Amino acid sequence: MITLALPKGRLLTETVRILEPVGIGFGSEMERSRVLVHESVDRSVRVLLLRARDVSTFVEYGGADAGVVGKDLLMEDAPSVYEPLDLGFGHCRLVVAEPEDSRGELMKKGFVRIATKYPNITERYFSSLGMQVEIIKLYGSIELAPIVDMADGIVDLVSTGNTLRANRLVEVETIAASTARLIFNRSALKTKHEEVSRFICKVRSAVTRKDS
Ligand code: PRP
Repeated sequence: MITLALPKGRLLTETVRILEPVGIGFGSEMERSRVLVHESVDRSVRVLLLRARDVSTFVEYGGADAGVVGKDLLMEDAPSVYEPLDLGFGHCRLVVAEPEDSRGELMKKGFVRIATKYPNITERYFSSLGMQVEIIKLYGSIELAPIVDMADGIVDLVSTGNTLRANRLVEVETIAASTARLIFNRSALKTKHEEVSRFICKVRSAVTRKDS
């Protein structure tokens, strides 16, 4: 049996949707359940339901053999895991955004104060441009920071763009695109080689089926 760490929320729904047609189905109550461990109907996969931020930690330290996680978090946390597959869903972008009335001033400053959940990516990005950055680390509702004058701008994920618009922020730079990735614990590749290969094959066929 493969232990698969999944993030609660949007990526969970998409993952369940692609696994079902290749024979890895879960009860319809899984997504609403308070139970944190679930088995697939065919008993080939055990799912752990986690906060997105914890998925790669469980996979890196062997609490799970595999996981589904956004590329954004892999770029931020750089866990030591094997990443064989782009799952082709969960499309979003990591962007720099500023208040509408800043009118492009943010990227012209030599020193900026940025609120974000992604301190490492933010530091690397602004340093690569030769700009000095002070990072205010937040865990959610990042868009509030410039509204209350706590930061000049933000680095955050954008999917539909609705959250930026609703808070009168505009995107000024794209740092990277992100999609959901399938990751594996490095030792599970050896100790569970057959199960892991079979699982990767099934997921790959699920992704191909979805695209065709
Ligand atoms: C993410 C991100 C933005 C929002 C973008 O937040 O941090 O706030 O989604 O999506 P949109 O472009 O479709 O509006 P999430 O929903 O994960 O909540 P959080 O801010 O509590 O992390």
